[in-house]
Amino acid sequence: MSRLLIAALMALALAACKPAAEIAAPAANVVDSSDVPDPNSYAQPNRVRIEHLVLNLQADMAARTLAGSAELHLKWQDDKARELVLDTRDLQIRGVQGFDGKAWKNLSYRLDTADLILGSALRIKLPSALPRVRVAYSTVPEASGLQWLTPEMTASKQPFMFSQSQAIHARSWVPLQDTPGVRFTYDARIRTDASLMALMSADNDPRAVRDGDYRFSMPQKIPSYLLAIAVGDVVFKPISARSGVWAEPSVAEAAATEFADTEKMIQVAEKLYGPYQWGRYDMLILPASFPFGGMENPRLSFITPTVIVGDKSLTSLIAHELAHSWSGNLVTNSSWKDIWLNEGFTSYVENRIVEQLYGRELADMENVISQASLAEALKSTPPADQVLALPPLTGRDPDEALSDVAYIKGQWFLMFLEQRFGRETFDAFLRHWFTTHAFTSSHSAEFERFLTVELLEKNPGKASIGEIREWLHRPGIPSSATPAISSRFVAVDKAQAQWLAGDVPASGLTGTTWGTQEWVRFLERMPATLAKTQLDQLDATFRFTGTANPEIAQRWYPLTVRSGYTDARPEIESFLTTIGRRKLIMPIYVELAKTDEGRAFAMAVFEKARPGYHPITSGSVTEALKVPEPEAKQP
Ligand code: BES
Ligand code: ZN
Repeated sequence: MSRLLIAALMALALAACKPAAEIAAPAANVVDSSDVPDPNSYAQPNRVRIEHLVLNLQADMAARTLAGSAELHLKWQDDKARELVLDTRDLQIRGVQGFDGKAWKNLSYRLDTADLILGSALRIKLPSALPRVRVAYSTVPEASGLQWLTPEMTASKQPFMFSQSQAIHARSWVPLQDTPGVRFTYDARIRTDASLMALMSADNDPRAVRDGDYRFSMPQKIPSYLLAIAVGDVVFKPISARSGVWAEPSVAEAAATEFADTEKMIQVAEKLYGPYQWGRYDMLILPASFPFGGMENPRLSFITPTVIVGDKSLTSLIAHELAHSWSGNLVTNSSWKDIWLNEGFTSYVENRIVEQLYGRELADMENVISQASLAEALKSTPPADQVLALPPLTGRDPDEALSDVAYIKGQWFLMFLEQRFGRETFDAFLRHWFTTHAFTSSHSAEFERFLTVELLEKNPGKASIGEIREWLHRPGIPSSATPAISSRFVAVDKAQAQWLAGDVPASGLTGTTWGTQEWVRFLERMPATLAKTQLDQLDATFRFTGTANPEIAQRWYPLTVRSGYTDARPEIESFLTTIGRRKLIMPIYVELAKTDEGRAFAMAVFEKARPGYHPITSGSVTEALKVPEPEAKQP
């Protein structure tokens, strides 16, 4: 019997054991997800797979540690195997026990020397293919997947902790098979200070009594990168019967108002791609140090507070994280080389939700902005990294695979397919992809096969396999791509040209009717530098320096740095010391690092800001501020 058939039968048998209402059965034609072993994990899923995880942890806010145990329920593929290999990074292992069906017994284990990217393999010796193994351990305060905030760094002046597991940081707080090719369900008991709330990527009860002892269960199978935890002084504010926000008390009201359209977004996505499969959809608003815009932790997206600007203009972020409930959380890349299957699909779905809810004009503007960003990024991306279907990321940090190529070229590819096959056909196709691959992990080769059979062959003459392969396997943007256009931006560009030519003063610009996206366009298309008089005029009219809109700050401050406009330095310092979201602050650090004076200022600010930054952000800033190697002298 072929591996393919075995995998299909196993999937059917497994699905038969699950409560039918909760979980969609994967269809029989789903191929084995493990095309190649995941080079970013030591796990051996072809021998054994974690099926269920039971976490029992104490979150010690003062010591900055999680301590307790992780019990793994195992499904053996290879009954003769005598070793279980888990991923760990900087974990302090206290002991390992195995359960043979009757009793727990101590097992011997070895922790390999740490690899800089992968961490340490934990090799556990087994007398037989045991059904359960339990690891007692604790994390270190510097765990790469956790950030522990001091009370001063939060709105409510209480300690706060949150995880960020994607891509391979789950291993720094739980010993497990840290590869998106393995899915498991989980239960957890988390104990912490009685004054704080604990939340996970699971069934958070909006009415949970705050007593420092919390229980969670995640009945749907998830990959390890979606394992998430947070502890802090957060309260719940409902948006609809199945959706709401968790946030620090002083932020909750504003967050619920900003994200009031969440229920409508869920309904738009459901209409396009089938029922929302995860029960509740809540959002946790994190302190401003959160290094990302959002993270699609199932049932509880983690969200930066920097998108709460008062006019809902940045809520496409919520559409994005919600969209992952289909593209990513339901159908996951089986290893990080295929991250475009998660992020490119999600960017596409996000834009469809935005279009449906807020109109074509906004959707177009967002596409023009992102395609311009892709064009810029491609200038410094090696051709080998410009393909959607990347080769295995052996020896590479998977966070490196995260680029505009995966997000924007990926989205553009799906937009190309939509144009060629028509919305109706393409929507049905995408829905079919999600339904047939639900709760599995997949990869580019499988998508190419599915696309060929389900779209190309069923609708001959619309697109050729050569065109598809160009999108997937060749660098750059294929000639079959249609660039997005925005009529509103045509008006912005015209106004900008008139202002630059001195034909109209800043006060004569129609800026009062512009939204965030138009301002972003206006600032992004400026010449590299402006004269002080021009910057003064813009500031006097629009008050960019000190703006409360971080998307504007992200574009304005680098322009002031390039132009030597030091008037903005105090506000730059306050921006960089209060926000830790990488996308917003990195362009400023990068620009500052280009001159000796700028770098000195950046270093001084970084020193102050660093205690408040997430390890991921600190890493990026350190990299950006590195003194460049002196160029090798020609002989
Ligand atoms: N899943 C990503 C964040 C991520 C990707 C974290 C890879 C670590 C490794 C999330 O869904 C995302 O894409 N966030 C974006 C949102 C934006 C594109 C709307 C972000 O944080 O900027
Ligand atoms: Zn995403």
